[in-house]
Amino acid sequence: MARIVILGAGGRLGAALARDYATDHEVIAWGRQTADLGDPVKVANMVRQAAPDIVVNSAAMTNVDECETERTKSELVNATAPGAVAKAATDVGARLIHISTDYVFSGEKKTPYAEDDEPAPVSWYGETKWAGERAVMDADARHAVVRVSWVFGPDRDSFVDKALQTAMRGERVKAVADKWSSPSYTADIGAALKVLMNPGAPGGIYHVCNSGICTWLDWAAEAMAVAERAGILAPGPKPEPLRLADISAMVARRPVHTSMTCRRVEELLGRPMRPWQEAVADYVQTRYAGGK
Ligand SMILES: NC(=O)c1ccc[n+]([C@@H]2O[C@H](COP(=O)([O-])OP(=O)(O)OC[C@H]3O[C@@H](n4cnc5c(N)ncnc54)[C@H](OP(=O)(O)O)[C@@H]3O)[C@@H](O)[C@H]2O)c1
Repeated sequence: MARIVILGAGGRLGAALARDYATDHEVIAWGRQTADLGDPVKVANMVRQAAPDIVVNSAAMTNVDECETERTKSELVNATAPGAVAKAATDVGARLIHISTDYVFSGEKKTPYAEDDEPAPVSWYGETKWAGERAVMDADARHAVVRVSWVFGPDRDSFVDKALQTAMRGERVKAVADKWSSPSYTADIGAALKVLMNPGAPGGIYHVCNSGICTWLDWAAEAMAVAERAGILAPGPKPEPLRLADISAMVARRPVHTSMTCRRVEELLGRPMRPWQEAVADYVQTRYAGGK
């Protein structure tokens, strides 16, 4: 049994990890109220005092448009604080598993990004997350930086829930059809991260997402098809395609193609990450039909 500190435990991924790991480990789950990364020194001291075996940092300013306008604050939370937490983890002999993002990439590569592809963010959010990755790795090469993409799960609604809920109200779903990535189910991320808790696992950059590539339109259509087959959603029209350029409310630029391969974690797991369609089917049936 390991002692695991989870930062960002009120978020979509952090809450899922805190719940999943509590079965086999001693989990110390800190949300923003308890451990605000806006005060890196305080949080680093809390980590030293807790003296865990593992720290998972799932806390971040994740609103891409807010980061673009709140530059100083987002740099503090997404870059400076992870560096301070990484040093504190090293001081007490703990491994930090720091969650990062596909948005560190430019999105201009036409094939999936590998762990050693060079980041080139197109938004301030991506810049701050990349700076956070470097701060963590500079502190200790044994730490792990885990890039995830398009996170979905039961602890906080994401795009796929909004699409389903719109369809359930009988309204037409519209979704972007010219932006590609790989959805990541929080349950699958949590299962994969367990191999990184093994002290023998090498540090460095890992990609963890479900396999395959899709657009938001494909993602919504798949979730709706599963819900229709399960009788959760009445048959209705397919979602309507939008172009990224049609979304005028966006402040920050979005990278267009950020699907990722997960070679390093798959080698440690000894299996591939499961396809995003299977993960979506599992999620929709579990959350919306009350079980398989
Ligand atoms: N969501 C995605 O599609 C996606 C894609 C790629 C990478 N990621 C990465 O995955 C990780 C987890 O994101 P998520 O999907 O779980 O998003 P989330 O639900 O927004 O979780 C982030 C958590 O961080 C907390 N937080 C924000 N500012 C904080 C601060 N100053 N101090 C402490 N906590 C703070 C938030 O608190 P509140 O609950 O108070 O807001 C929230 O609970 C992040 O590192 C994110 O960059 C997410």
